[in-house]
Amino acid sequence: MNGQLGMTGKGTGEGYGVLTIQQHILQEQQKFPEASGEFSWLLSGITLATKQIQAKVRRAGLTDILGAHESGAENLHGEVQQNLDVFANHAIMRSLAVRDSVATLVSEENDRPVMLRHSTGQPRYAVIFDPLDGSSNIDVNVSVGTIFSILRLPATMDSIEDGLLQPGSAQVAAGYVLYGSSTVLVYTAGNGVHGFTLDPSIGAYVLSHENIRMPERGKYYSVNEAYRDAFPRPYREYLEGLRKGEFGRPYASRYIGSLVADFHRTLLKGGVFLYPPTAEHRQGKLRLLYEVNPIAFLAQQAGGSALDGTEPILDLRPTGIHQRVPLVVGSPFEMQQFEPYRSRLREEQMVFA
Ligand code: AHG
Ligand code: MN
Ligand code: MN
Repeated sequence: MNGQLGMTGKGTGEGYGVLTIQQHILQEQQKFPEASGEFSWLLSGITLATKQIQAKVRRAGLTDILGAHESGAENLHGEVQQNLDVFANHAIMRSLAVRDSVATLVSEENDRPVMLRHSTGQPRYAVIFDPLDGSSNIDVNVSVGTIFSILRLPATMDSIEDGLLQPGSAQVAAGYVLYGSSTVLVYTAGNGVHGFTLDPSIGAYVLSHENIRMPERGKYYSVNEAYRDAFPRPYREYLEGLRKGEFGRPYASRYIGSLVADFHRTLLKGGVFLYPPTAEHRQGKLRLLYEVNPIAFLAQQAGGSALDGTEPILDLRPTGIHQRVPLVVGSPFEMQQFEPYRSRLREEQMVFA
């Protein structure tokens, strides 16, 4: 990682120069001579939608876009949809629906998968996304994001659910866009994790974080401490160990309440993020297909790992498109320290099974 705009270093073949995400995707594609280019089109559809979303997010305080959607509609999770949730969902739907390679769209904001009809081409991919993550933070100007996961659909399947309920290890690409102090797109297609920063003066994402590697360890743990008393005991004790310096030094905490923002910090700075089961959410709050799987894929590609408490996230076989799972994701050292607590969680599960 070089972290400097305009100095993309190795990978460009030139040492200096701006490499846009479009160029980067094409460059990656050339490593696979048999690739049709459809996948590159698809990714460019996502980047277009996120530019539209970021433009809206940046103007949020200037228009009447803030606050709940006038319909007062609730999504299937019983949450009032925000104007920007609706806008972001439509922006992604619109820009992907025209791509011949996309057969199905799954969104946090839609109860059912959206099937697309195509006049040409062989639709092969499903795009699964959380259009606006952390949307309760919009009204107070805190970072929000978009998360996406891409699956290749099998040539034959009994039902669309069948095609969609693949383990996270089958993802062909995943990523997120963080609408923060700058707009950053981070993605993996299974060949490392790459970060791009939107240069507003040219309207292009340019390579700013090449081949991101998570630090071996970090300084922070990230969890909603207010629910601490409701976490299963091994989680509470792990957090106590982090706080009290049992793993070398006491950790500080950081929690934004936007998964994308909390994970982005964990990816760049190391540490651990947790969303354990709580009294209200017995399976945790986060959704497997469009929040946890893409985050787990990115973590793994950057040298970290992710568990649902006991099992590797990427091995889980989903049972529903809006399924929730607990999440522990972090850099190598913190995940290693979690191991004894993982064993205890497993033992407890066996006792209560
Ligand atoms: P969304 O806005 O897409 O519904 O997601 C919100 C999620 C996630 O971004 C964050 O990590 C989590 O909710 C925070 O939940 P708590 O408020 O329970 O901590
Ligand atoms: Mn979300
Ligand atoms: Mn959302």
